[in-house]
Amino acid sequence: MDRLIEKLVNLYGPSSKEDAVKSFIKGEIEQEVDEIGDDKFGNLVAHIKGSGEKLLIAAHMDSIGVIVTDIDKNGFLRISEVGGLRKSFLVGQKLLFENSVEGFVFYEDKESPWEVKDPKIEKFYVDIGVSNKAKAKELVQIGSMGIYKPYFYRLNKRIIAPSLDDRAGCAVMIGVIKNLKRKKLRYDPYFVFTVQEEVGVKGARTSTYEISPDIGIAIDVTDWGDTPETQHIAVSLGEGVAIKVMDGGMIASKVVRDELVKVAKRENISYQMEVITAGTTDAFAMNITKGGVLSGCVSIPTRYVHSPGEVEDIGDIENAVNLVKKFIEK
Ligand code: CO
Ligand code: ZN
Repeated sequence: MDRLIEKLVNLYGPSSKEDAVKSFIKGEIEQEVDEIGDDKFGNLVAHIKGSGEKLLIAAHMDSIGVIVTDIDKNGFLRISEVGGLRKSFLVGQKLLFENSVEGFVFYEDKESPWEVKDPKIEKFYVDIGVSNKAKAKELVQIGSMGIYKPYFYRLNKRIIAPSLDDRAGCAVMIGVIKNLKRKKLRYDPYFVFTVQEEVGVKGARTSTYEISPDIGIAIDVTDWGDTPETQHIAVSLGEGVAIKVMDGGMIASKVVRDELVKVAKRENISYQMEVITAGTTDAFAMNITKGGVLSGCVSIPTRYVHSPGEVEDIGDIENAVNLVKKFIEK
């Protein structure tokens, strides 16, 4: 599982530029599904023909990033946010742009040149190693997007990387697809690898409308509450997969939540209940599309979400695969 996640986090895929992630995933699952294809909005939709209610399971392919807004005469890039970037972490980071262009982020403040006192996005700039605007324009354009330069490492049971949100969720869904017992299907499952989640859960909205499922489940990261002086959140790494009760956008449908708990108990899968107050997932969009869809979310407890170093427990990820797989099977 960690090899697969490593491959996924190494791919370039900020919101709206998910193509590399999509073609990798397609290669992984093509042989395992009955139908697969892109929809008009760019989501990758895979269908395994089952019977019973239509189930849509989603994990998003996109990551947060930055977008070039301006290039100054000395070739420095000015940037804006793609998704919920945590700006105070930007200084000193390496960024990766399209075509393997790399850059280094620093910060401009006459009063405080070495300390980030005012983390407004306008104050950060990117040095891509050129000395003028013309040279910079050979490498990037207005609208080019950058991500935190990918890396991946494992420390005991923990993995650390940028964009575990939501490449870990994509890995979980790939794991489910590969391990599903076709003869035991309880639903008619559609697996949607969505685009543009980080900029307003957009891919889930369009695909839910198109597929019109009876039940929707997102697989995504959630916040943590087990480091010093964090929020009062009852989610800890290593304590099991999290089953969402509520987040900043959605109250999970009771039937879906109860069914997930029932399956976890029956199969002896470690789980924890999750209530967070900020942030949301694709399940929020599913929940309120068309006449409404019974929706829930299977979450991977994740520290430092949207920072350059997100941390997860490999055991929780394995529990997530198991829970979703057993949920779909009889
Ligand atoms: Co996110
Ligand atoms: Zn996410």
